[in-house]
Amino acid sequence: MDTPRPFAPRPEPLDEDRYDDHDEQDTELDEVPESMGRHRLKVPDPAPLTEHGPARVIAVANQKGGVGKTTSTINLGAALAEYGRRVLLVDFDPQGALSVGLGVQAHELDTTIYNLLMERGAEIDEVIRKTNVPGMDLLPSNIDLSAAEVQLVTEVGREQALGRAIKPVLDRYDVILIDCQPSLGLLTINALACADSILIPLACEFFSLRGVALLMDTIEKVQQRLNPDLTILGILATMFDPRTLHTKEVRQRVLEAFGDLVFEAVINRTVRFPETTVAGEPITTWAPGSGGAESYRLLAREVLHR
Ligand SMILES: Nc1ncnc2c1ncn2[C@@H]1O[C@H](COP(=O)(O)OP(=O)(O)OP(=O)(O)O)[C@@H](O)[C@H]1O
Ligand SMILES: [Mg+2]
Repeated sequence: MDTPRPFAPRPEPLDEDRYDDHDEQDTELDEVPESMGRHRLKVPDPAPLTEHGPARVIAVANQKGGVGKTTSTINLGAALAEYGRRVLLVDFDPQGALSVGLGVQAHELDTTIYNLLMERGAEIDEVIRKTNVPGMDLLPSNIDLSAAEVQLVTEVGREQALGRAIKPVLDRYDVILIDCQPSLGLLTINALACADSILIPLACEFFSLRGVALLMDTIEKVQQRLNPDLTILGILATMFDPRTLHTKEVRQRVLEAFGDLVFEAVINRTVRFPETTVAGEPITTWAPGSGGAESYRLLAREVLHR
């Protein structure tokens, strides 16, 4: 699972629209030039666990859309499960993309996280579903959740609804990952209010840094008012294309701005990820030997190491 792949010479740049043709040569740690301020750092395999819990709760958030939040939640979760961790994925986006990405027909579900938030006495065990990945469970959501956002506004303790909902299962899991919607509204605030830390996927594109100041501002406010222990777990560079100068520049700027907060793992732009959504399974099982799967395994080791 963790054997280093032989070094492959970087291919000549291809046309933009053929970017996904050489997935097996994904840029990994050892290919990031030192000029980017990074050195190869071996992240050790995590020690096996003999017992489980209490869970670390990690919110995967960025109000910018399409930066890889859902993809990262699924694949980080699956990689953590491969390392023997018990993982719960929380779909906290009314679009239900996380549920769909795991092959769950979210719109057909009778009970979702909405019921846990809004109904007293709703049983979390009736909502949690197993996934095809051993050790990884899912709290699904669907469009009903958008109603919760409206209905919660008038409730006392409206920011703590998610924290209350997941509390009964904290002892069962090692890691709980919350896939946030692309906004800084009440649902995302709920996630930040109950999380130990936040993982921020950041696409290697111009303008991707623009919204980060606003996100940092929100994190600070949540720390001051709701959750003083909230920390930033790290920033994950996604949609990286090793052959364009442009994405390298953006990653360089991210490194300059955030230094050690940036994970060594870099997620390349590859068509393998959209494929996994169609397949309804994580890349770690869909294409276990791919660069994308290896990158998420490295991220999992870093997360457990931090
Ligand atoms: N590394 C990648 N390379 C290529 N495509 C990717 C990659 N990661 C994600 N994608 C694709 O990009 C799209 C957006 O990804 P994803 O849904 O994970 O982002 P998101 O931040 O959760 O989006 P939203 O803000 O809408 O919730 C999806 O179609 C996904 O399959
Ligand atoms: Mg998403």
